[in-house]
Amino acid sequence: MDKLLITGGKRLNGDIHISGAKNAALPILCAGLLTSGDVVLHNVPSLQDVSTMLKLLRQMGLQVTQENGVTTLNGNAVDKLEAPYDLVKTMRASILVLGPLLARFGEAKVSLPGGCAIGSRPVDQHIKGLQAMGAEITIEAGYIHARAKKLKGARIVTDMITVTGTENLLMAATLAEGETVLENAAREPEVTDLANLLVAMGAKIEGIGTDRLVIHGVDSLHGATHTVIADRIETATFLCAVAATGGDITLKNTRSDILDVALDKLREAGVILTTGPDWIRAQMSGRPKAVGFRTTEYPGFPTDMQAQFMALNCIAQGTSRVTETIFENRFMHVQEMNRLGAKIEIDGHTAIVNGVDKLVGAPVMATDLRASASLVIAAMVAEGETLIDRIYHLDRGYDRMEVKLSAVGAQIQRVK
Ligand code: EPU
Repeated sequence: MDKLLITGGKRLNGDIHISGAKNAALPILCAGLLTSGDVVLHNVPSLQDVSTMLKLLRQMGLQVTQENGVTTLNGNAVDKLEAPYDLVKTMRASILVLGPLLARFGEAKVSLPGGCAIGSRPVDQHIKGLQAMGAEITIEAGYIHARAKKLKGARIVTDMITVTGTENLLMAATLAEGETVLENAAREPEVTDLANLLVAMGAKIEGIGTDRLVIHGVDSLHGATHTVIADRIETATFLCAVAATGGDITLKNTRSDILDVALDKLREAGVILTTGPDWIRAQMSGRPKAVGFRTTEYPGFPTDMQAQFMALNCIAQGTSRVTETIFENRFMHVQEMNRLGAKIEIDGHTAIVNGVDKLVGAPVMATDLRASASLVIAAMVAEGETLIDRIYHLDRGYDRMEVKLSAVGAQIQRVK
């Protein structure tokens, strides 16, 4: 199993090219199931989760070609309407095939994702929404079995804001009969990116980017060409890294307008940020100031950045309070950071981080994707060597992170 060996204390200087967003690419790949036309995608990131999704979609009969950085999907020959347990258990986003399969083929069988490291993460809202659209759904032997000759438009109010829930119902509604209204819809930029692709494929969607999506179902969708948006979480992860280590980096091929709250927090921590239409420059010297926050849905502070900002707070001046409101168990990195000398206490859904002068390298274990990224940041400021085990979590969602960080001066190497 691969590990990362990191020697801390290096400043970061140079340019980093940001990849396409994982959480936009995954639903967008599933949208390929909605049409028999070619869906041509640019800026699909090279990640383990993308490979897993493509493996699942190929098993269903989707044709996938990848040439010169362009991914082309063709759903003309899709004939296996099932997502098996062995793939779903490795990647919860597999649930995103449910809506498109049901809408286009009238049937889908998808393994129920189990709980995961960050929380129980049920999919009841996906099911509730599809049932409101007329689907008959049974759950048997660990599988969701959904059937509907033709989905019918409905008004759906989800109990909470759910990102993949919104995406699943949005994809299903594009081919339903009549009008679907999704109230309490997620407004994450990745949902908007999916909606923009669907519109390019011929879907009729109003309210894109708001919490009320109105979809007028059409008989069929056609092929389209689309560029996946930049990964805002990868962007903010590198910004946190430079905030912690000090230095001067410019992130290319990214966007600042979908990162407002995270950028405000970085400024509060002492980072000098300048932005352009597709780049962000971050300059940092001295010790960061502690920044408190509470995770919420977009446009609030992203839960996917909680761990990385906590790494920054570990070595900051002052004490911060970090409250996680989206997932019930997303503090697994805390014990590992404390092994590096951090002083963090957990009180329910809040972590109280007392900034220390320095961290000291030690062997640590990654527990989930964003926790892995936070340990990389902590290791880059820790004195001496840190060996991070179980970095397969990192590979699921970051495109060659150690290569990108080495290129700007980090001492980081992958060891077998
Ligand atoms: N929830 C339910 N029932 C549902 C759906 C959600 O109770 O049917 C709860 C969840 O348990 C959670 C909350 O609602 O407490 C929000 O979950 P959401 O459905 O929004 O999360 P998700 O769609 O499963 C996506 C991202 C996550 C990201 C969250 C929140 C993808 C593929 N995943 O997950 O990304 O943390 O939204 O923004 O888009 C990551 O990239 O590291 C990651 C975990």
